[in-house]
Amino acid sequence: MTQLLKTRWIVFVVILIGACGSLIVTNSSHAQEQRALYLDVSQPLERRVEDLLSRMTLEEKLAVVHADSKFTSAAIPRLGLPRRWLSDGPHGVREDVGPDNWLPAGHTDDFASFMPALVGLAATWNSDLATAYGKVIGEEARQRGKQIMLGPGMNIMRTPLNGRNFEYPGEDPFLSSRMVVNYIRAVQAEDVSSCAKHFAANDQEYQRGTINVEMDERALREIYLRPFQAAVQEAGVRTVMSAYNKFRGKWCSENEYLLNKILKDEWGFKGLVMSDWNGTHSTKGAVLGGLDLEMGTEVLPYERFFMANGFRDGLSSGEFSMSVLDDKVRRNLRQMLETKAVEGRGTGAINTKEHQATARRIAEESFVLLKNDNNALPLDPNAVKSIAVIGENAIQLQAYGGGSARIKAFYEITPLEGILRRIGDRVNISFAKGYSDKPNEELASQAVRAASQADVVVYVGGLNHRPGFDAEGTDRKDMKLPYGQDELLSKIVAANPRTIVVLFGGAPVEMGPWLGKVPALLQAWYPGMEGGNALARVLFGDVNPSGRLSCTFPRRLEDSPAHAMGNYPGKDGTVKYEEGLLVGYRWFDTKNIEPLFPFGFGLSYTKFEYSGLRIEADKPGVMSVKFEISNVGTREGGEVAQLYVQDLKPRLQRPFKELKGFSKVFLKPGEKQTVEIPLNRSSFAFYDPAQHSFTAEKGDYKVLVGSSSRDIRLEALTRLTTTTLEK
Ligand code: BGC
Repeated sequence: MTQLLKTRWIVFVVILIGACGSLIVTNSSHAQEQRALYLDVSQPLERRVEDLLSRMTLEEKLAVVHADSKFTSAAIPRLGLPRRWLSDGPHGVREDVGPDNWLPAGHTDDFASFMPALVGLAATWNSDLATAYGKVIGEEARQRGKQIMLGPGMNIMRTPLNGRNFEYPGEDPFLSSRMVVNYIRAVQAEDVSSCAKHFAANDQEYQRGTINVEMDERALREIYLRPFQAAVQEAGVRTVMSAYNKFRGKWCSENEYLLNKILKDEWGFKGLVMSDWNGTHSTKGAVLGGLDLEMGTEVLPYERFFMANGFRDGLSSGEFSMSVLDDKVRRNLRQMLETKAVEGRGTGAINTKEHQATARRIAEESFVLLKNDNNALPLDPNAVKSIAVIGENAIQLQAYGGGSARIKAFYEITPLEGILRRIGDRVNISFAKGYSDKPNEELASQAVRAASQADVVVYVGGLNHRPGFDAEGTDRKDMKLPYGQDELLSKIVAANPRTIVVLFGGAPVEMGPWLGKVPALLQAWYPGMEGGNALARVLFGDVNPSGRLSCTFPRRLEDSPAHAMGNYPGKDGTVKYEEGLLVGYRWFDTKNIEPLFPFGFGLSYTKFEYSGLRIEADKPGVMSVKFEISNVGTREGGEVAQLYVQDLKPRLQRPFKELKGFSKVFLKPGEKQTVEIPLNRSSFAFYDPAQHSFTAEKGDYKVLVGSSSRDIRLEALTRLTTTTLEK
């Protein structure tokens, strides 16, 4: 043994004694336990897992495959395994609840940073920010003592109405994958496990607990599973949460095809699959269908969980073999050991200055400038004398809403507060709510009065996290702005044409009645605890907006694919994804329907030019697409170059074009930069059901480079000379 290993060994024994207390000291097998291989972190993980497994009794094995409170599974003190804590969610570490119910636990140390919603993170198109985001989540989870963080969500925005769209990174599997991979890697680098959820096809909240989803194999493989596959194969995510719904007639929590065949066999997933809370339906289904950890089942005591006594009975009757339980236990132990369950992780950090700065930067880069006639924005802080801030979202706290993604935030800067901090000492600022939970004449006339008396109006409206909007468990009823905001906005803009509109929300809304009348529109998503500061910095030009839409904004709900096909929310308990591959811009492009704002769209306070496209092939099928971007405007700013691939003669149906690369660059006025985006065979591949494989077929392809999915600036042809299958 080297000196280093000896030192480590002593450290572990000390930690173990600390963790196991008197048990270890008084245990007659003390000496044996001290030599246990699984405690030696220098040993390969699989050997440690096998060693630990071999020491476990049946009761101990069963204890790790189900919960012992709302968000924990039991400790095994004899072996030095602490209680395992799980926590929501994607946007920060949720407050503690329970132990056996959903009520707040009443702790005083369960505050957390409130990060921008994932749909907004995706709108930054900056995967470095996904890394920074994950680091915040990981550090805070560690500080709060959580081993598994229940996020990121990665379901696809199939309909604008899904109540959880705000929790997911938009409509495109490539963009989503780039975001979740970096997020997960960064969380897990902090010795915290991420959880890829909800596997799979949980793309609506309406009837989420019963709905059966049917789709063809190509839509499944090319669209809905892609981010999960990347999470598993690229990021090495340690846990996956099964969805509430059924897929092809079987509950996702017991779906052998999804869990055993695709996730574990094909993708080689070695971690654990947990159920969604109360999403387990039978012992046999869960045990044989691929579930490894049962959470949230609404029965007490916990021995009555499907994977507790029922599992044990099945083992004694011979219905299940011990190897099935052992496989589940191994998966749980892997997750625990990888998260340093036995040796401990040390403290993390919470709501630090860096976390706050990260939250602000992500918010700033997530805002999408959708309209800016005659440079209405940025506002000149030295020229504006008075501003009427109008709209409930200017003062609404958003952190504690939406369902499981809610956060008990340390603080949250609202838009009004952000504007006051930025400019309140110089400019006369009035506020009018304009609407509340229903159209309100008095509030509306106060708002119109305030609008008519100010130089500029900053209207902050849109959606919120109340039930029926961006909230778990329900979908929106339509795509319209609630609370009579359409009429209100028309009146406000009539009173003051200099009306800047800022919309909160996790998904598109219809804007027909007023969009033509307002000079500027900014999509702000849910920008987190620093949202108000970030907004003020964008409005007053300290920051140039560089967000791009992570989803298509249709003109009308009926234009979007699931709705156009009459396939939402389903009939007789089943929703058929008959639009297949044509989700989001894939539909609008292929069917030639003009969206209100296309996927990838967003304006800037400066202008960019593209030139010099060339494709350099390193070896067959591996290429590097190069071109130049110049900032030809007068301000520094960020541009998102997007690369789409088009198959010129597809053998099977393909979308008109598909995103396969992007790069965000920041340039000073007059600056020019060469951008390089790699492509490989997968960039050209589609899933061929006959071959059970992704295949990149020989033939001609167009490479399209643009500033949005509808603003293609450069294009070139390329050719694959051979066909290859991805096995
Ligand atoms: C949600 C999950 C969440 C879980 C625990 C469920 O209702 O679907 O996303 O992680 O609750 O709160």
